[in-house]
Amino acid sequence: MATQFARHKTIERNVTLLAVLAFIVVAIGGIVEIAPLFWIDTTVVKVDGVRPYTPLEQVGRNIYVREGCYGCHSQMIRPFRDEVERYGHYSLAAESMYDHPFQWGSERTGPDLARVGNRYSDEWHVQHLKNPRAVVPQSIMPPYAFLADRDVEIESITAHLKALRGVGVPYSKDEIANAKADLVAQADPEADTTALLKRYPKAQARDFDGDPKRLTEMDALVAYLQTLGTMVDFNAAGPREQAE
Ligand code: HEC
Repeated sequence: MATQFARHKTIERNVTLLAVLAFIVVAIGGIVEIAPLFWIDTTVVKVDGVRPYTPLEQVGRNIYVREGCYGCHSQMIRPFRDEVERYGHYSLAAESMYDHPFQWGSERTGPDLARVGNRYSDEWHVQHLKNPRAVVPQSIMPPYAFLADRDVEIESITAHLKALRGVGVPYSKDEIANAKADLVAQADPEADTTALLKRYPKAQARDFDGDPKRLTEMDALVAYLQTLGTMVDFNAAGPREQAE
């Protein structure tokens, strides 16, 4: 017993030794927490249908982030009965694996948007974004009418996809080389979208904002909203079974 206390005394009276030993103990805890993140790829189970966003959807997503829609809308359906009955199948990790930054969260001044895709028409979204109270009289959502007047900035999309590739989104060389063309083609009703649809299966190509002559931020945002939650087919072989 006596020697045990003596050793403890040595440590407590020697600041440097105490600091070194404390550092070692904390470092072990840190490694245990941080190391698994290097193998995070293996902790997110892949699910059929999830693909990187098309250039237009990605631009829409950037607008969504820029405008802070996140402040009122989460994109994460929790596995509780009330949420699943209201919004649909609970969110899977794989569904947001290409999201940088992700838009999960629990703050919901408005409804969760993880599965809002294809739930309303494009016209509804455009009306609602221009003036939410025109379609939902009691809404407290702010209007975003200016998006319909702003042209999409096309030049930077190539660099943007490259940057996403740098953080692990698997954009191919072909997708990066065609980024600008794909960005324009997706909202142009006269464009040939065969190659686009091959690169991005199930992408929706049409004029989204009701003004086919212009490629506006409204086109991009609505294209993004219409894709939310539509990539995984929950009616086919259940993704739950796939995941297991
Ligand atoms: C101040 C909070 C607030 C902000 C910011 C906000 N919203 Fe909303 N949003 C709401 C509320 C409240 C509703 C529910 C009433 C309604 O439909 O307008 C809603 C509804 C919606 C709906 C319909 C969802 C459904 O399932 O019926 C969509 C789509 C939507 N918002 C998109 C957006 C987008 C895109 C942005 C950013 C450009 C945004 N919102 C910013 C509060 C907000």
